[in-house]
Amino acid sequence: MEQTAAVERSDLIKTLQKEQETEGYISDEAIERIATEFDVPPVEVEGVVSFYTQFKRIPPGKYHIMVCDGTACHIIGAPLILTWLADALGIRDGETDENGLFSMESVACLGCCSLAPVISINGKVYGKLDRKKLLKTIREYKKAEDSNGRSNQTQSKSTAENTGAAE
Ligand code: FES
Repeated sequence: MEQTAAVERSDLIKTLQKEQETEGYISDEAIERIATEFDVPPVEVEGVVSFYTQFKRIPPGKYHIMVCDGTACHIIGAPLILTWLADALGIRDGETDENGLFSMESVACLGCCSLAPVISINGKVYGKLDRKKLLKTIREYKKAEDSNGRSNQTQSKSTAENTGAAE
């Protein structure tokens, strides 16, 4: 009987991991759906999600920043990286900004310790960071985002003008 409960819990965890892999986080809807699937109350699924730090309840930003806090990076400045990012983005570890643009998460070793301290943004690695290099990188993402926004606005304006929708 206990073994069945353990198997079900491990299946539940696997399902939650799959959900997070696909969606990037565990939404309220997913909790409800998975609870129905496993025939357990949603509060039980919520309990599992909050117990394991691997599960996120907030959607990640468009640019997800992983700050390595493995031993090499920690010793050489990961806590400072987290502080500088928090100041630059207005979010703390595990949060997403209000525009849904940046999210930040400290993680264990990213596997490139010789480049410490290291972050990755959507999988792209930036190493040997100091404050200047870090802030420059963030500024570049913000700038690219701004010009994307501007070109989208120009595009919609010209589409609207071409279709006469602006009149
Ligand atoms: S400890 Fe940061 S990459 Fe290994």
